[in-house]
Amino acid sequence: MENGLRELVSCLSGAESVPEQVWRSLLSVGKDERDWLAAMARKVTEDNFGKGVYVRALIEISSCCRNNCLYCGLRAANKDAVRYRLSKEQILECCAKAASLGFNTFVLQGGEDVMQTDEWLADVVKAIKAEYPSKAVTLSVGERSDAGFAMLRSAGVDRYLLRHETACEKHYSLLHPSAMSAENRKHCLHVLKQLGFQTGSGMMIGLPGQGVDELVADLMYLDMLKPAMIGIGPFIPATGTPFAKEKPGDVDTALLLVSLSRLRFPKALIPATTALATLCEDGTERGILAGANVVMPNITPSAFARNYTIYDNKKYHDSESAEQLELLERKLNAIDRFIDYSRGDYMI
Ligand code: 5AD
Ligand code: SF4
Repeated sequence: MENGLRELVSCLSGAESVPEQVWRSLLSVGKDERDWLAAMARKVTEDNFGKGVYVRALIEISSCCRNNCLYCGLRAANKDAVRYRLSKEQILECCAKAASLGFNTFVLQGGEDVMQTDEWLADVVKAIKAEYPSKAVTLSVGERSDAGFAMLRSAGVDRYLLRHETACEKHYSLLHPSAMSAENRKHCLHVLKQLGFQTGSGMMIGLPGQGVDELVADLMYLDMLKPAMIGIGPFIPATGTPFAKEKPGDVDTALLLVSLSRLRFPKALIPATTALATLCEDGTERGILAGANVVMPNITPSAFARNYTIYDNKKYHDSESAEQLELLERKLNAIDRFIDYSRGDYMI
């Protein structure tokens, strides 16, 4: 098996584009091959980043959302979701806590909250940047207008996460109401890149209606976009959504996609996602061992974080953030890694 696999993997390095059939073959490998791919991906990660794993302080700034993605517990139509939004002062308090813990990146993530306008966010980001000029600010607050993105970039936002979710248009429309489109999603990602954001994309694994064709489309889309960051996590059903009774995504398949992404994008910043850690106890370690190199500890106060319910049983921590970090350091040490507190910008 190894020679054939080696040849497939060699198609991932350097070439302008990867033939569809190569992705298809790589997506259909068995357990031993997956382990081998993970080992290769791990090696590529170490060659590019050493043994350090970047950390980002995740602040969940609002559980309010105007959208109705069928998979997400925060969808507007879910009347049982508990809504909150952090004030500018509360966000600044989170940043102060994160800074005191040594973080050099703040990630502000939230639903598409109509009250958190571009102007409001720009003002918050300016305040953060005034206080912490050397730290990176990442936003993950959904689709905005071109002018909105430009305003946020001018305010000092360094990075923007907007997963494409699924690249296939037909699949996209199965997962979203007609007010949303794959076309606009991709337009936003294009604009973000043009504006000079370090841009993150990615997808869920194991969504209803997702098969090999859809995953191939995702990989081919990533290949075209060349994102700085790639978030990949298993789909997890959420109560109060049309997909509440669906099966969760397969962790091993999500890990395979992490490995393939690493092999194709050696320099990308790839998190071991919370969704992985939610579905299995050692999800973070398994993500790192499959080629991820980023972890995003949640520093949102737990009284809020418990209500950021994009899916069921989502991990949040009741313990102090400092304890969380010590635990993470221990977990990483056990797999011969350590926390790297530097900014961890995307370096081409
Ligand atoms: N399971 C897993 N991930 C989800 N997301 C939203 N809902 C779910 C779910 N039910 C992911 C989306 C979104 C990111 C913030 O969380 O990919 O972009
Ligand atoms: Fe809103 Fe994001 Fe959830 Fe969609 S995935 S409903 S945009 S919070």
